[in-house]
Amino acid sequence: MKIEKRLLPDSGRKKLPPQDDLKFGAYFTDHMFLMDFAQDTGWRDPRIVPYDNFSLDPASVCFHYGQAIFEGLKAFRGKGGGTRLFRAIDNLKRFNRSAWRMCMPQVDEQFMVEAIKELVKIDERWVPSECGTSLYIRPFMIATEAFLGVRPAKNYILSVILSPVGAYYSEGFSPVKIFVTDKYARAVKGGVGEAKNAGNYAASLMASEEAKKIGFTQVLWLDAIERRYVEEVGTMNIFFLFEDTLATPALSGSILPGITRDSVLRLSRQWGINVEERAVSIEEVIDKAKSGALRECFGTGTAAVISPVGSLFYKGENHPINKGETGRYAQRLFDEITGIQFGEKGDPYGWTETI
Ligand code: COI
Repeated sequence: MKIEKRLLPDSGRKKLPPQDDLKFGAYFTDHMFLMDFAQDTGWRDPRIVPYDNFSLDPASVCFHYGQAIFEGLKAFRGKGGGTRLFRAIDNLKRFNRSAWRMCMPQVDEQFMVEAIKELVKIDERWVPSECGTSLYIRPFMIATEAFLGVRPAKNYILSVILSPVGAYYSEGFSPVKIFVTDKYARAVKGGVGEAKNAGNYAASLMASEEAKKIGFTQVLWLDAIERRYVEEVGTMNIFFLFEDTLATPALSGSILPGITRDSVLRLSRQWGINVEERAVSIEEVIDKAKSGALRECFGTGTAAVISPVGSLFYKGENHPINKGETGRYAQRLFDEITGIQFGEKGDPYGWTETI
């Protein structure tokens, strides 16, 4: 499929936002990608057009029954000035897994990577260059059929928008304070927790709002049945360094299979670290935090990259980790991953490509 382009004249393009205060997801570039799906034609009419509102029928299925999925990946201003994409094909593969789980149509992964490259190229002046910044790429698909019965829709829109971003958390790379909730649950095995669908994030809001009100950055979710095993933080996967062993909850169906999670596992194994993907109970975490065997804890995600956890608050008690400071291992991973992303370090896995 050929991508049609309808671009803004230079005079119609926006002023760039302040590079030293981008925040996360607050600004959007000049153009977006769009493509339509109908059951009888498949995907059609791929186009790059000026960033603009959608016009949708109020009966569109996405508004009522939540057929809406998304991805998050990043482009970086490389060392030599070029723009670099990180693990784009892996994000598109996960997009298709989410689509499958939500009964939405599959996309051609390679075609979408090329479409993203074309879009980023067109809006390349938006790729920021300040330290810690990047261009966040948000592909998403919504069900647009106007129909009120409950069944998979027959029509969809796939779009990609771009946003120059700084750090996801206001703490930046400083340790965040996490509240462990045993009151709410995010997802249950057999449910849709491993898909990147919009509803999972809506389900997480109440707990994170309550936690924020009392001074926490995020919530750590436990399994929905026993409220005993650690799952993930709303926007990140979670890792624990127990003495010299790196442990993270196994992907059991209710946890998002993070791309950064996978990068951390692969790097750690390559470095000869003992890595365990297994059930991690909150008792084990708290016991080891008390005894000092929990050396470090950190979250991983595309938006947050590596986010050190300075303390866990569980059942009315605060448990500092590594004296509330960024750990050496989190720092090593952060340096390695961002080094690969920005082209400052070698990329033995072929994770990056220059646009
Ligand atoms: C990401 O890390 O890309 C996410 O999707 C998390 C969040 C911004 C929803």
